Amino acid sequence: MTVQRKTAKARKSSAPTAKSKATPKAKTTAKAKATPNAKTTAKSKAKSRSTTRKSKSPARAKRVESAAPPKVQRSQSALHTRICEMFGIEYPIIQTGMGWVSGASLTSATSQAGGLGILAAATMTFRELEQAIAKVKSRTDKPFGVNMRADQSDVMKRVGLLIREKVKVASFAQAPGERVIKTLKDAGVLTMPTIGARRHAEKVQAWGVDAVIAQGQEGGGHTGQIPTSILIPDVSAAVDIPVIGAGGFRDGRGLVAALALGAEGIAMGTRFLLTKDSQVPDHVKQIYLQTKANGTVVTKAVDGHPQRVIRTLLIDQLEKANVLTRFPRAALNALSLMKVTGTSLPELLEEGMAMKQNQELTWAQLAMAANAPMLTKASMVDGRIEAGILPTGQIAGVIDEIPTVAELIQRIMVEARETLRRLGA
Ligand SMILES: Cc1cc2nc3c(=O)[nH]c(=O)nc-3n(C[C@H](O)[C@H](O)[C@H](O)COP(=O)(O)O)c2cc1C
Repeated sequence: MTVQRKTAKARKSSAPTAKSKATPKAKTTAKAKATPNAKTTAKSKAKSRSTTRKSKSPARAKRVESAAPPKVQRSQSALHTRICEMFGIEYPIIQTGMGWVSGASLTSATSQAGGLGILAAATMTFRELEQAIAKVKSRTDKPFGVNMRADQSDVMKRVGLLIREKVKVASFAQAPGERVIKTLKDAGVLTMPTIGARRHAEKVQAWGVDAVIAQGQEGGGHTGQIPTSILIPDVSAAVDIPVIGAGGFRDGRGLVAALALGAEGIAMGTRFLLTKDSQVPDHVKQIYLQTKANGTVVTKAVDGHPQRVIRTLLIDQLEKANVLTRFPRAALNALSLMKVTGTSLPELLEEGMAMKQNQELTWAQLAMAANAPMLTKASMVDGRIEAGILPTGQIAGVIDEIPTVAELIQRIMVEARETLRRLGA
């Protein structure tokens, strides 16, 4: 593929392409983008846009051609994005925080293999989180993250822990408030919420987050309505901070595709769940492997919010049940969760009120929301498939083996380089 043809392609795209981000010029721009100063950021974005516009001129295309480094190096630098520098990781691959799944072993294995592992803390007690952080640190000295729920009653205590332990990244299922972001940011902890729509990305960027995970509808767990292929370019054209694509990724081709769409890396849940390092019982992993791409469903029946899960008998029953029949079961499970997470009744009520206010839930939805972690635990920890729910991405339908995390990450990087070569990049 000649440079001219690539330039013509770039013309069609309103967002800077992964390739253009990797050129020496764009690298400087990217660096400037990473500065906290909003004015500099806006300026550098404008500069980046004008760079893209300028590249339309044939004279400039020629200059780019003569300045281009050898092929292999260019492929490698395309895979070394801003998030590698920002998070201090070797590869632009993130293992997301999955409740009951992303424990110390999965997180440390990912970080040790050159990606960013994230502990799922929303389903951990404060003490468990302390222990998990200590365990990760005993296994790797590489950076890792912690995923939290910003509406947890002890969120500021957890924020304090992350700061004391010098955790690199705090990730959030929903947008954390400005206070949480500022406290973490002032202490040098990077913040990265997951969003499912452009306007949410714009909002959290204005609040000062450092990066966003843009999760498309094919993703596992709570998920939005916009497919990944539409969401990534839309979000990355709208914000200056790095965008990490999520929802439907499993290999190196997907990584290159995400970069081409404007992301600076991929975040994967289901693919990491299906590794030897994840703590999910083997027979539960087998259920995921047997699931077909059309064997998942997005349902509100679990906790009132759209969540992608494997379609099981229980899900069918929950979907058919009316709110009145769901409510008693939900309330009972919420009480069991109190025991598991060590939450007291006043704390549960306080948390419930915060959730009700923040997410505008009805009481019935609130009971279901409190219930959901117990349903997930029943499958993912206790292995009781019939009693629990199995959150998953659609990608489970095309995953058929269980590698180690180290094998997976190496394989993705080899495939990504091969893909770039195949495309003539
Ligand atoms: C079993 C499971 C549990 C999850 N739990 C959480 C969670 O606790 N917090 C969160 O922010 N996202 C959670 N998610 C979403 C993932 O972090 C991730 O964004 C999603 O799986 C990406 O899509 P993929 O599965 O196609 O890779 C969960 C996903 C799964 C599959």
